[in-house]
Amino acid sequence: MSMNILLLGSGGREHALAWKISQSPLCKQLFVAPGNAGTALCGDNVPIGVNDFPAIEQLVTERNIEMVVVGPEDPLVNGIYDYFQSKEHLKKINVIGPSKEAAQLEGSKAYCKKFMMRHGIPTAAYREFDGGNLEEGIAYIDTQEAPIVLKADGLAAGKGVLILQSKEEAKKELREMIANAKFGKASSRVVIEQFLDGIEFSVFVITDGKDYLLLPDAKDYKRIGEGDTGLNTGGMGAITPVPFCDEELMQKVKERIIDPTIAGFDKDGLVYHGFVFFGLIKVKGEPWVIEYNCRMGDPETEVVMPRLKSDLVQHLRAVGNGTLSQEKAEFNEHTVCTVIAASGGYPEDYEKNKKITGLEAAGGDTIVFHAGTRQSGQDVFTNGGRVLAVTSFGDSISDAVAKSNTTLEKIQYEKKYYRRDIGYEFK
Ligand code: AMP
Ligand code: GLY
Repeated sequence: MSMNILLLGSGGREHALAWKISQSPLCKQLFVAPGNAGTALCGDNVPIGVNDFPAIEQLVTERNIEMVVVGPEDPLVNGIYDYFQSKEHLKKINVIGPSKEAAQLEGSKAYCKKFMMRHGIPTAAYREFDGGNLEEGIAYIDTQEAPIVLKADGLAAGKGVLILQSKEEAKKELREMIANAKFGKASSRVVIEQFLDGIEFSVFVITDGKDYLLLPDAKDYKRIGEGDTGLNTGGMGAITPVPFCDEELMQKVKERIIDPTIAGFDKDGLVYHGFVFFGLIKVKGEPWVIEYNCRMGDPETEVVMPRLKSDLVQHLRAVGNGTLSQEKAEFNEHTVCTVIAASGGYPEDYEKNKKITGLEAAGGDTIVFHAGTRQSGQDVFTNGGRVLAVTSFGDSISDAVAKSNTTLEKIQYEKKYYRRDIGYEFK
């Protein structure tokens, strides 16, 4: 039986999810709130914000929506899952996302670290500090080796992690974060952790809190500049599969990280129906957890969804029905990359409302997912820092990236910027 589905969000991740969901025979009608010019090609955009729960409730009721897929972390940390559970007429709706409590795994670094310690999951050693023991924190930094990693406890739009090369700088920043609210309330508590030196990668699962389906692994490129230089961004590109994610490493990831995490949800009584994004780092051949996110990655989703052969909606329906153990996720063996086209100036100040031309240049092995775009009449305009995610299939990383770069040369808007070197270490 097909159903109406609501997807929340407006980025490249949501266009990729909308693209996949809308291909499912189980999807009758797809609504996206608020969506972008790309999601409008896969379903009906509705101008409702992701945190406006009463308006979402009204839409779900009026449009007979049976499944709500939550793209970004904000509504999850704000408790959208619990909101639906708290209302008799909404209880039966299959909300894909963790409960408010479980979303703290992303919403609070201190909560996340305690969870990992409790369940013996490999992660950097740490201590937490706040206004009550700031001076202890300063003294603690003196006992550590640089670089020092400082993490704002709460959500800080991806900016709350500082890696300082000297203890003096670290002490100054710790004071800024705690005493001067450098990241607002998010940094009233700070986690100081051991620096891990290795190569990062991401692993994703769909879980119902007991069983899980493994999705393709991916690697994203967070820095703005080529050669991984300059400021951190939300992500400037991604590749899958990750060349060093061999069977041996993935076996360790499953045994030491994924299995105890899912078992941890069950032991702790955490309700978790959704995606888990494991931000991992390989250090001397061993996997460690840097962070959990309670949603899919962006831009990783723009490479993971194109590799998923099986029906995403069927998997998500099984999450709601408690039958995930009967599902099997199938992937294709292609190499897939995505290259983000950003607005000049991003991740600092940038301008919006630049007309985009050449979008029809895609085709063949390339899909243009929209991130920060908006439609006005027949035209599409830039509407965010990350504007497009140009995804290509290839026989190799070089081949896939070359296809995305060729398409990006044909797409024009004022101050377009993209990294031409995505996947560079593996070429
Ligand atoms: P997070 O928000 O926890 O993912 O941290 C953002 C980024 O900071 C990560 O993607 C890493 O590149 C870096 N990072 C975080 N924690 C550590 C650590 N303990 N050692 C080295 N790098 C880290
Ligand atoms: N690409 C990293 C993230 O989605 O947080």
